[in-house]
Amino acid sequence: MLQNLIKQIQIPMRNIPRTFSVTTKNFSLKSEEAAPIGVEDAIKDWRGRLRKAGVGDIDFNLKCIVAHVLKRKFNTISDYLSTSLNDKQVQELNRLCEARCGRMPLQYIIGEWDFMNITLRTAPTVFIPRPETEEFVQKVINEYRDVSELNLLEVGCGSGAMSLAILHELPQVRSFAIERSLTATHLAKENAKLLDLEDRFEVFNHIMEADNYLPPELCEKTFDVIISNPPYVKTEEFQYLQPEVTAYENLNALDGGPDGLKVARLVFNLASLYLRFGGKLWLELGTDHPQLVKRIMNRQYSGRLKYIAGYKDQYKQERFVEIERV
Ligand SMILES: C[S@@+](CC[C@H](N)C(=O)[O-])C[C@H]1O[C@@H](n2cnc3c(N)ncnc32)[C@H](O)[C@@H]1O
Repeated sequence: MLQNLIKQIQIPMRNIPRTFSVTTKNFSLKSEEAAPIGVEDAIKDWRGRLRKAGVGDIDFNLKCIVAHVLKRKFNTISDYLSTSLNDKQVQELNRLCEARCGRMPLQYIIGEWDFMNITLRTAPTVFIPRPETEEFVQKVINEYRDVSELNLLEVGCGSGAMSLAILHELPQVRSFAIERSLTATHLAKENAKLLDLEDRFEVFNHIMEADNYLPPELCEKTFDVIISNPPYVKTEEFQYLQPEVTAYENLNALDGGPDGLKVARLVFNLASLYLRFGGKLWLELGTDHPQLVKRIMNRQYSGRLKYIAGYKDQYKQERFVEIERV
């Protein structure tokens, strides 16, 4: 169970950032500047320090940081150890490695990360999209590929990852989102703009609560589909999470209360009010949630919402839930 939780919520390290959008510059050294320093020399102390700090996959971390310092695309550097850095770049490398030793997630240090086929800006405290969410989003995309029009609502959009990946893939979708964090709301808007998807994406800074599910602008609408990856970590499980998660991500993005379904229960109510008949609610949840959700649907939402199925993630754990408005 603990292994599952760690897999689910740990910050991904192998989602390679393919596309740093910053421009490549030539740093020509003036004669009075110090000679370039080989990366091997510049990083030699950092290997040990990162290891001591408990950072895993050190080579990958260092390569990402060096690529970022060089303002190069990660995948354009075949052998990062044979590159060299000027003085200013070494200072920048030291600053970023120090932050990584403090367990700041790589995604925050670098400032952007790939999610499916899009690159998203990241910002401290805003939830970093996880690899399993890519599977979840792919499932939703496959489901609606042939539909001619779709009105979607996302509850808790964070950086905008899920909605924006769907909009990027499906031009017939229009998405509305709510998000309680102001920083995340701004970031989601910024990401939509950078991806040229702002015409089809509207995000509202709103805290969904019982009897105040949606902001006034959305209260009159009904939706064909609602998606959410709500906070679902049980409060007692926080002690097992990595420092990257507990120290840097926003706990409001993670804490699902005693059984992990505190926010999901609000989403159920919201869906029973705002989904059109026949519309679907898709949720990404924890491993022991789908069966619990099935029982909750049968007991409390009979005649309003119907549990259709649970689906497995790449670790063969049932995590994704499909519910229909009846
Ligand atoms: C697990 S994160 C998922 C973020 C994004 N969907 C993703 O997959 O990357 C949950 C998000 O829901 C937001 N959230 C939590 N409770 C909320 C509430 N009551 N109303 C609106 N947003 C909420 C959090 O701020 C956070 O951004």
